[in-house]
Amino acid sequence: MCGIVGYVGSRQAQDVLVEGLRRLEYRGYDSAGVVTLHDEDLKTVKTVGKVAVLMDALSRTPLRGTVGIAHTRWATHGEPTNENAHPHLDCRGTIAVVHNGIIENYVVLKRELESRGHQFRSETDTEVVTHLIEEYAQSMSFSDAFFAAIDQIVGTFGIAALCVTEPRKIFVARRGSPLVLGLGVHRDEFFIASDPSAILTYTRDVIYLEDDEAAIVSENGVETFSLDHLKKEKRVEKIEWSLEEIERGRFPHFMLKEIFEQPKVIVDATRGRLDAKNGQSVLGGLSDVAERLRDVERLTIIACGSAHLAGAIGEYMLEEYAGIPTEIEIGSEFRYRRPIIDPKREAVIAVSQSGETADTIGALREAKGKGALAIGLVNVVGSTIARETEAGIYTHAGPEIAVASTKAFLAQLTVLSLLTVFLGRQRSMSQATGQRIIEELAVLPEKIERILAQNDRIKIFAKKYAHYSSALFLGRKYNAPVALEGALKLKEIAYVHAEGYAAGEMKHGPIALLDKSFPVVAIVTKDSVYEKMRSNLEEVRARNAPILALASEGDDEILRLTDDVLYVPRTIEMLSPILNVIPLQLFAYHMAVARGLDPDRPRNLAKSVTVE
Ligand code: M6R
Repeated sequence: MCGIVGYVGSRQAQDVLVEGLRRLEYRGYDSAGVVTLHDEDLKTVKTVGKVAVLMDALSRTPLRGTVGIAHTRWATHGEPTNENAHPHLDCRGTIAVVHNGIIENYVVLKRELESRGHQFRSETDTEVVTHLIEEYAQSMSFSDAFFAAIDQIVGTFGIAALCVTEPRKIFVARRGSPLVLGLGVHRDEFFIASDPSAILTYTRDVIYLEDDEAAIVSENGVETFSLDHLKKEKRVEKIEWSLEEIERGRFPHFMLKEIFEQPKVIVDATRGRLDAKNGQSVLGGLSDVAERLRDVERLTIIACGSAHLAGAIGEYMLEEYAGIPTEIEIGSEFRYRRPIIDPKREAVIAVSQSGETADTIGALREAKGKGALAIGLVNVVGSTIARETEAGIYTHAGPEIAVASTKAFLAQLTVLSLLTVFLGRQRSMSQATGQRIIEELAVLPEKIERILAQNDRIKIFAKKYAHYSSALFLGRKYNAPVALEGALKLKEIAYVHAEGYAAGEMKHGPIALLDKSFPVVAIVTKDSVYEKMRSNLEEVRARNAPILALASEGDDEILRLTDDVLYVPRTIEMLSPILNVIPLQLFAYHMAVARGLDPDRPRNLAKSVTVE
């Protein structure tokens, strides 16, 4: 989704801004732009397409100046064109604005501003902000005009603005779209960004703006305010990630790197949390609410996309092992369907990699508003969901750069299993059962290595299947959501029309699709539904559909149904999704590459979906 970078200091701003935009590329965008202020003049360069195109344009027309803001745009209002790309300037070219989010009342504001003579050049909602500030600035200082304009906006925003009358300052404001301020190593330089990875090259000292906060950033420092323009002190925090973590290293793509990081992901997500002796999980983030959790009689998990599918597996875990009735809900549905919450007995668990997904945040607020105890299961430290929940468990997957979620999904499953042990042991789970789960979690990294060692074999299968335009993914029980996740990965990055189904449902509809041109990817590992799954595969075979099976090591029987088998190590059923999803991630990755696509930058998708 859209990205913002800003700089004020003594370096040439253009270089810092472009470097920041490059680091934000993973978030998904379709145009980019930069503005700098030099000699009382704002100069912009905007291009459609990749940041490389912008860099090319800048090499022909470099922008001078040591203060500037830049943006990558993911089109919402108006197509990806130069005119619609940010920054947007006011009528006189003295104010520049970049914006993430959606301004819901832009039509009314635009009509009003046009009636006052403002000339609009784009179809965007963002441009109204520029003209609104311009309008107010006719009768007040720029600073007051900025706050007055923000006050008029309905919707979500992360905004940064420059003005020729305040040439060494960047004005920023946040509601619903993240913004972070960076304090440079050199005392006279400061940064702004919508995502810390954009400025990690320059600093680790940051101030996270929260919703309804604003700041004025200059080479003399950072002043922070509430949106009603009252001064507010904020804490400087340290970014813990290393630069290495956000670079590709020896891998051709971030997605492959992140898939290969998964043994470490389990180690990091479980570090200090496994108490094998007592069959317990140690979750410090829940200690403040542990007693309240003991009384909880119902859980609702809210999430979107892959996080939702992790939550669906969590639902199975929590019901079977912790004995708590659990519902999994899509964020965008939950928030609008008037859900019934029992404030005394219900907890809501928001699962999110970014912690910034607008639909999950909306659902979380809805549940909190109704009194539910709010728990976060989040990867990005300090993100909105992490801050807005009463307690939580970080997944510690490290920065996930590829748009398609892989390691963050695995970390979510790991933490959901820890949560299951935690809540289960508060209830009727025996110590022996707790021990079995905890001990198995500890050996999963080695089992994952065995799957990763089959990368070349998976690549061969991907080449074999690359020409198919459709696929049906089947699984049962814990692996039904894994089938959906495998299908989601394939459609996201390989653009194959893939459907994920609980295998028992196949005969109620999708079986009609099957013939020799419609392959089936089946998760048929040894578990309590193995025989049922085998029967479903017989039905597939009878329709001549090609089958790629995911089976447990040593299962030769499966070769009767298909020659295309990927073997995974055995584990306990509840944890099997953690292993089974990995070959499906690799399969999708290699399918995308075999089809000539860039798996890291799938079309139309954004890493963090901060709009509804
Ligand atoms: O940051 P979140 O976990 O809240 O993101 C939720 C989804 O947008 C995300 O999982 C999305 O479905 C990914 N593209 C999946 O690969």
